[in-house]
Amino acid sequence: MKFLVTTVFVAWILISSAQCASNTWCYHLPTCNEAVWPAIVPLYCDGTRQSPIDIVPSDAKPDPELTQFTFHNFDSKSALESMENTGQTVKVNFKSGMTISGGGLSEPYDSLQFHLHWGNGASHAGSEHTVDGKRYPMELHIVSGKSHYNGNLTQTIADPTGLSVLGFFIEEMSNDEIEEPASWKMLTSYLGSILYKDDSVLMEPGISLDDLLDGVDRTNYYRYLGSLTSPDCNEAVVWTVFKEPIKVSKDLIDLFSTTVHISDSSSPFMINNYRNIQPMQPVMTN
Ligand SMILES: *[C@@H]1O[C@H](CO)[C@@H](O)[C@H](O)[C@H]1NC(C)=O
Ligand SMILES: [Zn+2]
Repeated sequence: MKFLVTTVFVAWILISSAQCASNTWCYHLPTCNEAVWPAIVPLYCDGTRQSPIDIVPSDAKPDPELTQFTFHNFDSKSALESMENTGQTVKVNFKSGMTISGGGLSEPYDSLQFHLHWGNGASHAGSEHTVDGKRYPMELHIVSGKSHYNGNLTQTIADPTGLSVLGFFIEEMSNDEIEEPASWKMLTSYLGSILYKDDSVLMEPGISLDDLLDGVDRTNYYRYLGSLTSPDCNEAVVWTVFKEPIKVSKDLIDLFSTTVHISDSSSPFMINNYRNIQPMQPVMTN
């Protein structure tokens, strides 16, 4: 009887850890960080058009099809619905009605959410893409899916251009006397309400995406075909990486790595939640 119980228990351990291996990934432990993603999530982290990449501006080919974007409802001050701690990032979910078109995209895309990647304070950079090897303090990703799939994620990620991600670098402001810009001060004021994994807070009307992207010339960008930068790393992303960074003061950048935790109150702060660069892909520019 004791043997049977032990056998069943050992089998249970094996099954649970096997499930864990395929479901759980992380940034902070050697057992689940990006070094093992290709092994634990071979579909698709072991693929051939993976993101992020290092962008080499002198190698980017000019493409006249890369026209200007039209951003619909990015000026709405009530379109940011909620902020969430996913355990891996801070994500802001949008209400429906935000779309992007143009920008060399084949059709309109519905914008769904943005989330962020960062290092450890403004001094330890944590953008995902790099430019000529330069890593910025943070990177913001606006995720959109082809409108005609009506939010069907299965169909969206099965399409090699099903998702569009707009990447914006975040750079430290040179003048750090005050917390700026006001839109980012308001955005980061919600971090205290999502300290732990799965915490979520409704956002009050007040800031728009345009406010958060203030000062960035959105007519200058790089384009390449890549993947999601976290498991399952689906190769379904049309990447747009804007050349100009958003400028945010150091105090506000530092809040990300000193406020939210990856799990409960006994877990570490969420830091260095970025993937390192992957083999290069052809990059276009407008
Ligand atoms: C999404 O599309 C797939 C494939 O066409 C279909 O099987 C599935 O039922 C759809 N899911 C939803 C939630 O509509
Ligand atoms: Zn991202």
